[in-house]
Amino acid sequence: MDYFLINGGNRLRGRIEIGGAKNASLPILAACILCEDEVVLHDVPDLADVQSMLLLLEELGVQSTRRADGALRLRVVDESRVHAEYDLVRKMRASVCVMGPLLAKRKEARVSMPGGCNIGDRPINLHVQGLRRLGAAADLKNGDVLLASEQLIGGDIFLGGPFGSTVTGTANVLMAAVLAKGRTVIEAAACEPEITDLADFLNACGAKISGQGTPCIVIDGVEQLGGCEHRIIPDRIEAGTFMVAAAITNGELELANCRLDHLGAVVDRLRHIGVTVERDNGVAVVASTRRLEPADVTTQPYPGFPTDLQAQLMVLLSLADGNSVITEKIFPDRFMHVAELNRMGAMLRKEGPTVIVEGVRHLIGAPVMASDLRASAALVVAGLVAQGQTRISRVYHIDRGYKEIEKKLAAVGADIERRQEQAEEEGAPPRRSGTHADAPVWLAPHEVPTK
Ligand code: EPZ
Repeated sequence: MDYFLINGGNRLRGRIEIGGAKNASLPILAACILCEDEVVLHDVPDLADVQSMLLLLEELGVQSTRRADGALRLRVVDESRVHAEYDLVRKMRASVCVMGPLLAKRKEARVSMPGGCNIGDRPINLHVQGLRRLGAAADLKNGDVLLASEQLIGGDIFLGGPFGSTVTGTANVLMAAVLAKGRTVIEAAACEPEITDLADFLNACGAKISGQGTPCIVIDGVEQLGGCEHRIIPDRIEAGTFMVAAAITNGELELANCRLDHLGAVVDRLRHIGVTVERDNGVAVVASTRRLEPADVTTQPYPGFPTDLQAQLMVLLSLADGNSVITEKIFPDRFMHVAELNRMGAMLRKEGPTVIVEGVRHLIGAPVMASDLRASAALVVAGLVAQGQTRISRVYHIDRGYKEIEKKLAAVGADIERRQEQAEEEGAPPRRSGTHADAPVWLAPHEVPTK
């Protein structure tokens, strides 16, 4: 298995191109099941989760090829399969997004229940409830959800749950409703930009959807969908992760292809903490050169602060000048990173769905273990600023959502490299990359000794 070696202390400076959004790509890839004609998608990131979805689609008769220019071409060649097997769904929960399209286009779907994961329970009751409102018969058999309907009928659906709406649940119901007879109104729909991108894609294929991006989405069913050419929106979570990396290393990063309008709550918190975030002809510039102020953060459905950036912001606040409070309202158990960060010298105390963050002077490098995608990204951010060396094992978690994050960070000055376990047994001396900045980042500017 791969691991990362990071020597902390370098300020990040330079430009990073933000890739296409993983969480927009996955439902849009699933939506290709609905299309009669070829689909061409630009900016689909080459991530492990995308590979998993393409494998599942191949199982379900959707052929895909990557063009020389990086665009993905997809076409349905066989509609006989309707079963998304446990093995594939277990690896990637977003596989449940094939449920709605299979049901609408092939009249039935058999999808394994995704089960839990390191960020908490991942039920799909709202998904099934919504599809049943469209007339689907639903059953549970050997851990699979079985759905069937000769013809879905539009209806009024409420998708609010105890933790707000459901993003992939909204995607599933939306994709099913586009081929249902009549009008569907989804109340308490997810407002995430990834849902808006899915709806825009479906409309480009001939669907009739309005209200995307608001809690009320209206869909008028159509006979069939054609194909289209579509560009995936930029990944706001990747962008937010690099914003924190720039801030925590007292550096300055230009983020190209970054939609600041998708990051309102994040920019608000960063500015409150004392980080500069500006737009400079289409590029977001993020810099920090002074002490960090503490802040209180509560994760909310969009446009609130995204749960997928909670861990990364926790690392930044662990170096703030005072105490912060972080409350997780979407996945109350999403704190696998807390114990690992405390091993690096952070002072974090979990009280139920809240973590009290006591600011410390610096973090200290240590061997840590990645546990889930965003917690692992937080450990990378911590390693960039920690004194000494940090070794992060099981980085396959990170590869699910970040394409070669170590190369992007090394290119802007981080001392980070990917290594394989067996290389260690060959006694290969650890290689260092990147250059040390003029002063270790754990010193605030006024603490940097003058020459
Ligand atoms: C999507 O997951 C994202 N994944 C997650 O990103 C993200 O954290 C999450 O939305 C919240 O923004 C993709 O888009 C592929 P939910 P999803 O259904 O759709 C409860 C990442 O790191 N709930 O919006 O699975 C659920 O338990 C990933 O990229 C029900 O109770 O999340 C949770 O508490 C991690 N019943 C809350 O709602 C249901 O039927 C939000 O879940 C469905 C969800």
